[in-house]
Amino acid sequence: MGALDGRVAIITGAGRGIGREHALLFASEGAKVVVNDLGGAIDGSGDDRSPAQQVVDEILAMGGEAIANDDNVADWEGGQRLVASTVEAFGDLHVLVNNAGILRDKMLVNMSPEEWDSVIHVHLKGHFVPTRHAAGYWREQIKAGREVRAAIVNTSSTSGLLGNPGQTNYGAAKAGIAAFTVIAAAELSRYGVRVNAIAPAARTRMTEATPGLGDIVKAPTDPGKFDIWDPANISPLVAYLSTETCPLNGKVLFVQGGQVRLFQPWTMTETLEKSDRWTVAELAEQLPGVIGVGTPD
Ligand SMILES: NC(=O)c1ccc[n+]([C@@H]2O[C@H](COP(=O)([O-])OP(=O)(O)OC[C@H]3O[C@@H](n4cnc5c(N)ncnc54)[C@H](O)[C@@H]3O)[C@@H](O)[C@H]2O)c1
Repeated sequence: MGALDGRVAIITGAGRGIGREHALLFASEGAKVVVNDLGGAIDGSGDDRSPAQQVVDEILAMGGEAIANDDNVADWEGGQRLVASTVEAFGDLHVLVNNAGILRDKMLVNMSPEEWDSVIHVHLKGHFVPTRHAAGYWREQIKAGREVRAAIVNTSSTSGLLGNPGQTNYGAAKAGIAAFTVIAAAELSRYGVRVNAIAPAARTRMTEATPGLGDIVKAPTDPGKFDIWDPANISPLVAYLSTETCPLNGKVLFVQGGQVRLFQPWTMTETLEKSDRWTVAELAEQLPGVIGVGTPD
């Protein structure tokens, strides 16, 4: 018996990398999988239906159930088609894994508006659009008196949650996805939908192309050694978050190799307070000490 028997799952950007591993594991755990991928280059340019179809072929060859979809997840009508065609093909929808993404790294002083817009668009709108259409479907189910036990798993990144130079566009989008997760979780629980996010670390074309990371993410030369960068290490957590009985909601989890770590949300710490408005001079005198940054010379 599989952990995801009978679950219908959409996985975006599942033609390659981490999403491909999610699709293969989900199918082996009994899910019916919609393998979405427009098959673009790492910077989002171009399209090629074959990566998604290849993953579908692999799933069918191992006796699983899957269909391909090449809609752009950041496109409103594309996301609508993605959800509608899933329900049409498999009769329902239980899981949405928002995973599709692109990179256009550049230092801020050199970043073009296109590099900013495209990354924000694919990641942030590419999470909003499928979530919005799936949530609409689940709300209809609840209104029709049916029980919903659905899950959404989003994909954030340490590039945003911890901050990585050269990635203001990508990091802002990924930190935004963590905020989106927390708020969507609070809103959608009334419809039987849980929303969590992962911040993965694995060897894919994305990390292989990142300066300084390419050498680090290499597979170990000793085949008996655990490969902590294998993208397949990420998928069991995503599958668990997608099970019908998983209790987690509104959480953001780092995952790499054999490690799963809970991110603490943004939280308020040191406090400076008085029962009147602060002056600039008072703040200059007191605030640096309270928050531990020292005073300038
Ligand atoms: N690899 C890592 O270590 C790492 C770390 C943190 C976050 N992530 C995130 O994990 C996710 C998967 O990345 P990956 O490393 O597997 O990269 P990848 O490039 O191998 O896979 C991403 C896939 O998304 C698809 N895609 C891009 N834009 C799309 C769109 N608009 N509609 C549909 N499909 C689209 C691409 O064609 C590609 O196949 C991304 O969101 C990425 O930002 C990865």
